[in-house]
Amino acid sequence: MPKMETADIETDLSLFKYDNLEQLPEAYRGLDEDERTDRIETAKRELGDDLVILGHNYQRREIVDHADFIGDSYQLSVEAANADAEYVVFGGVTFMAESADIITDDDQTVILPSMEASCPMAGMAEALQVDAAWAEITAAAPDADIIPITYMNSYADLKAFCAEQGGAVCTSSNAHEVFEWAFEQGDKVLFLPDKHLGENTAHRLGMEDSIAEWDPWDPEGKSAEEVAESDIILWDGYCQVHERFRVDHIEQIRDDHPDANVVVHPECRREVVEAADKAGSTAAITQTIEEADPGETWAIGTEIHLTNHLQRWHPEVEVLPLCGDACMDCNAMRQIDPNYLTWVLEELVAGRERNVIEVAHQEAELANVAMERMLEI
Ligand code: 13P
Ligand code: SF4
Repeated sequence: MPKMETADIETDLSLFKYDNLEQLPEAYRGLDEDERTDRIETAKRELGDDLVILGHNYQRREIVDHADFIGDSYQLSVEAANADAEYVVFGGVTFMAESADIITDDDQTVILPSMEASCPMAGMAEALQVDAAWAEITAAAPDADIIPITYMNSYADLKAFCAEQGGAVCTSSNAHEVFEWAFEQGDKVLFLPDKHLGENTAHRLGMEDSIAEWDPWDPEGKSAEEVAESDIILWDGYCQVHERFRVDHIEQIRDDHPDANVVVHPECRREVVEAADKAGSTAAITQTIEEADPGETWAIGTEIHLTNHLQRWHPEVEVLPLCGDACMDCNAMRQIDPNYLTWVLEELVAGRERNVIEVAHQEAELANVAMERMLEI
């Protein structure tokens, strides 16, 4: 495996990971939907097999309608790995496009229509910050093998760090399997950055009594010695969209709709996952509705665009947002505006690449090791 000095990695602490942010040209602002749809479809036809558009389940209708594949983070990383197209246009957020760049061949180009689509949770665990915590925690447990696992929702430099330390990447659909793999490799897991997914996974594995939280921002928080006593150490990151769901939302839904079933994403708090009927990735949520009998009622605890898509795609099922109007959209996902999609596609037709996501070679090679470990599990 190539060796990398993590301290040499340039880590940008700003919200926008990429500073080559290009603004939408004036001519592309305010296009109407019919014209835009025509232009996107024309560009797609002209680019033919040279183009594949991947769309995450949280993207707007005007993006997923044009996607060749729609799915969760795991499915989209598999689609990116299998893609032959020269251009992979990613309807998603920065860490997903980075992962696509890592996993595709060097002669393929990954384009994120808007560079402003940065997931705040991914920014909650910076590689340099994790490096410092790692030094403290491993020093506090000199006889233990600690395996770092990072959620897909993290930047490439953190994935590279995990690879270098013998760890791997996971997504919400395979976290429990990756944890099991990690416990075959070592004694303890450091999980980054989503504490809720980590806690929910620990429960799924029956390891809820051996969890400790590491809060890098709280000087009064647990010390390295204290957290190192536990088998699962959780970084204190979270998703604002999913933290919003509460148990009383589930109680309210069940009062208002006594037949309602509830499915939530495992980025929700532990007590919410416990109170729900089911929890799973965005693909698992989609599959739950696909498999529901006509007339069933399902309340969904995740980002609102997916709930809206499921209402549209499955009118035979009553699909409800778990917290009604208080359900949020993801601000990062929303940055992928269909006008931006029109622009980057028409620029490709004209032979110009805009908003290219390119992970530095050494970092990409290592991050790929962590991604491949996940794909092999
Ligand atoms: P999935 O992997 O379930 O698609 O989730 C990605 C995500 O960002 C959830 O907030
Ligand atoms: Fe990040 Fe949350 Fe948006 Fe998912 S929903 S991309 S975790 S901010």
